[in-house]
Amino acid sequence: MSRQIALIGRPLSHSISPAFQQAAIDYYSLDAVYVKWETEPGDVEETLNNLRDPNCIGANITVPHKETVIPYIDSVDDLARVLGAVNTIVNRDGQLIGYNTDGEGFLRALREQTGGAIRGQRALVMGAGGAARAVVMALLRARTVVTVANRTKERADKLVEDLIQYAGPGQLEAAAFDISTLSDISSRCALIVNCTTVGMRHSQDEDESLLPADLIPSHAIVFDIIANPLETRLLQDAKRCGARTINGLSMLVYQGAAAFELWTGMPAPVEAMLAAAREAMGMDGVTLVGE
Ligand code: ATR
Repeated sequence: MSRQIALIGRPLSHSISPAFQQAAIDYYSLDAVYVKWETEPGDVEETLNNLRDPNCIGANITVPHKETVIPYIDSVDDLARVLGAVNTIVNRDGQLIGYNTDGEGFLRALREQTGGAIRGQRALVMGAGGAARAVVMALLRARTVVTVANRTKERADKLVEDLIQYAGPGQLEAAAFDISTLSDISSRCALIVNCTTVGMRHSQDEDESLLPADLIPSHAIVFDIIANPLETRLLQDAKRCGARTINGLSMLVYQGAAAFELWTGMPAPVEAMLAAAREAMGMDGVTLVGE
């Protein structure tokens, strides 16, 4: 019987993770299948107990269970503990170990595009939820100077309070989310990252952007971590302003690549994964990172 790697979340019908993870499994001809385990909030403990089966290699954890799985697993690595969220579990002889590869996925997508040129540069991160936390931690490790702006200022303050211990002097601050503050910050930023849900397909704010187009500097790199749609309103505006753009599909694939490496100990076949992701999105031949 084939071994299993599970995707645990709800709903999972639109997820493209099965497409690109199975591509990675097949690249190495592993006798394994990547399966969706759609899980109701009340069933998380039972699902994780099933994951302890020797036949299960591990899992990806997605919305809405990234935080709620933590009490039911045996150990959590330092980064995932700091972030308070797990997106990858490895089953090691019945012991479940939790990791968070979102930040690594973000950074790898960014480095592919910039060649690492963001060190010492200034970044504006919009949002203060779980995704923003992973991105901010990754940027701090990449030695970027980060300003976090969020609609609910208290949440940005809390993010800074929790992560300031990982920042150097003057490396991390929270800012108010008003036009004059955003205008001032964005003009000085080499990198602007959207970590909010604004612009996401099927959301209330589909086709919206938090940053007025005239505040996007042409010298900036604009990264929207939303994968669907591939080109959000923010990225459309950024392109029109002459800024470089990175979409969320590359981050999605790279966080999955890091998970694959944790499960198997083998280098992820990133090109095969990117090709499968493109195919699953119905966009063969489209460039994922920048343009
Ligand atoms: P995730 O875990 O994916 O980061 P989340 O924790 O729900 O998701 O965070 C969503 C982020 O999008 C938050 O920063 C949220 O701002 P608030 O903290 O003020 O709620 C932001 N967001 C969602 N809708 C928004 C909107 N219409 N305008 C501004 N920010 C919005």
